[in-house]
This record gives sequence, structure tokens and C-alpha cells, in this order.
Amino acid sequence: METKTVGVLGAGTMGHGIAQILVRSGYTVLLHDLSQEFLEAGVGRIGKGLNRDVEKGRLTAEECQKALGRLKATTRVSDLGEANFIVEAVTENFEVKAGAIRAIEPYSRPEVIFASNTSSISITRLAAITERPDRFVGLHFFNPVPVMKLVEVVPGLATCQETIEAAERLATSAGKTPVRVNDGPGFVSNRLLMPMINEAVYCLMESVAEAKGIDDVMKLGMNHPMGPLELADLIGLDVCLDIMKVLYESFRDSKYRPCPLLEKMVNAGRLGRKTGRGFYEYPQGRSG
Ligand code: 3HC
Repeated sequence: METKTVGVLGAGTMGHGIAQILVRSGYTVLLHDLSQEFLEAGVGRIGKGLNRDVEKGRLTAEECQKALGRLKATTRVSDLGEANFIVEAVTENFEVKAGAIRAIEPYSRPEVIFASNTSSISITRLAAITERPDRFVGLHFFNPVPVMKLVEVVPGLATCQETIEAAERLATSAGKTPVRVNDGPGFVSNRLLMPMINEAVYCLMESVAEAKGIDDVMKLGMNHPMGPLELADLIGLDVCLDIMKVLYESFRDSKYRPCPLLEKMVNAGRLGRKTGRGFYEYPQGRSG
């Protein structure tokens, strides 16, 4: 079955980014969010992102208009019934994701493939709440979605080969490089990245260096494009903390203990770029 119409659940940072690359690649995208305000903001950001491609000469004005014409935004989950592939990118919380998947399933075509953009929740566990665990797969994109090449493709215990291949085809046709990884906590990306970020927060808490010093070490010494604390601000400190908790609870190993300063920052509402303050301040910063 060829995927032509993709439903995207959630118009936030990841959802609107995924919708943007898919309409740009020729798919019709049905973008859903419960909140009209979030939906409008997501559509606005997609328009801005595609117009940026026009300014940079990567897309013609006509292609941009056509891409935007392929985007349909809705707050009604029943409108996603036409999709033959659905990617959920709602809040990183099992109950929220389960609720979104349960809400859409009765309206979905029997052959639809469900993908979750979860960054750490078990795909096997999410798949088990559906009637079709064989047609459920992890499709983990990276922020900023239009820029980052990687997509982790994560089969759950019951995912069938056809579903994995359809997910890989979707990622490739949207200009990404799929890498298949198994369904372990944090997959590969966040199992490696989050402990590094967490350790950077420990360095800050223990006054090993200032935030800028810690970031400079990793940028200048290891050629990372961003330091770990800058990156935490981009990802969202709440997201980093949630992922550390998943690692800690899944492995039951103290090496994944979330840094108390990370917890304190989240409790204070200093979540990074999206709230204007994290390890750095962003008076008019881009929310990512
Ligand atoms: N949204 C969309 N596009 C963005 C963007 C954003 N938030 N930030 C930057 N860009 C685009 C810019 O528009 C620019 O494109 P252009 O060709 O149109 O000019 C291009 O990226 C380069 O941007 P800049 O010149 O402003 O800055 P840099 O060269 O420093 O690149 C960066 C910015 C791409 C964000 C780079 O610093 C980088 O790669 N950082 C690391 C990001 C990273 O590691 N992401 C993964 C996070 S982990 C994750 O998402 C997993 C999850 O589960 C937690």
C-alpha cells in the first residue's frame, strides 16, 4: 500500500515540523490538535518554515503554495479517517499518547499504520493498547525536524516487517535517514544524549564550571554544534527530565538518577527556550 495521506496528531514543535517536511515532500497532511490556538500556531510556523525555503531558493513560490494546499488542519479527530499513515506527536506522557491513539482508532482505515514520535516510551507498550500492534511502530524525529537528518525507526515486539518498511519509506521520502533500533528505554539517541545532558547539569550544580564554560568545552573540544545545556534549553528541560525518569525507572540503575538541579529548574518553570528561560535567557528567542 502506498502512503499518500498522513495524519499528524499534535501541532506542537515536533508535530508541526513533521507535517512541514511531509507536505513539502508531496504528502497530503491532516494535522490535528485539540486546541484551535495550537493548530493555528502550528500552521503559521509551517508557512514560515516553507517561506524560508523559498527565500533561500530551495523551493519555488509555486511549490510552496502547492505544499501549503496539501495541509489540512482540524480539531476533529474523525477528519483523519482518510489517512493511511498516522504519526502521533502529542505530549510525551503515556496516558496522553494512549488517549490520542484510542480516540483516533475507531475512525481509522483497517490498513492504517500508526507511528509514535515518542522519545522514550516503550513502543511495545503503546502498540498493546491498539487493535493492531503489528501495524504500530516508533518513528522518532529530532528537533528541529526540518534540519535534523535522523529518524529512529523502532519496531515493537509485534511490529511486522511490512510496517517497518513502510515507516522507513516514509522517512526516506521526506528526506530523512532512517536508522532501525530496537525498543529499549531511550532507544539509542536518548540513552546516550540524556545522560550527557544530565551530567552537564551535575557539573553546573557542583560548580565545576559556569553554563557557558560547560557548553564551550563540548563545542570547542568535541565539535558539538551546541553545548549540552544549550541543547537542553532547545529540547525543553521538562522533556529531558521526563526522559531521565524513564531511563531511571526502566533500568533501575542509579547512574540515570535525574540531577536535582534539573528537577529544581523544571519545578521553577524554567523549561528552556519555550518559557524564555532555562540555563540561559531568551528574551525574544525562537521557541524551536
Ligand atoms: N526550527 C527550524 N529551523 C531551524 C531552527 C529551528 N528551531 N533552528 C535553526 N534552524 C535552521 C536555520 O533556519 C538555518 O537554516 P537556513 O539554511 O534556512 O539558514 C539552519 O537551521 C542553521 O541554523 P543557524 O545558522 O541559525 O544556526 P546553526 O548553524 O548553529 O544550527 C542547529 C542550528 C541546526 C539547531 C544546530 O545548532 C544543531 O544542529 N544543534 C543540535 C540540535 C540537536 O542536537 N537536535 C537533537 C535534539 S534531541 C531530540 O530532538 C530528540 C528528542 O527526543 C529529545
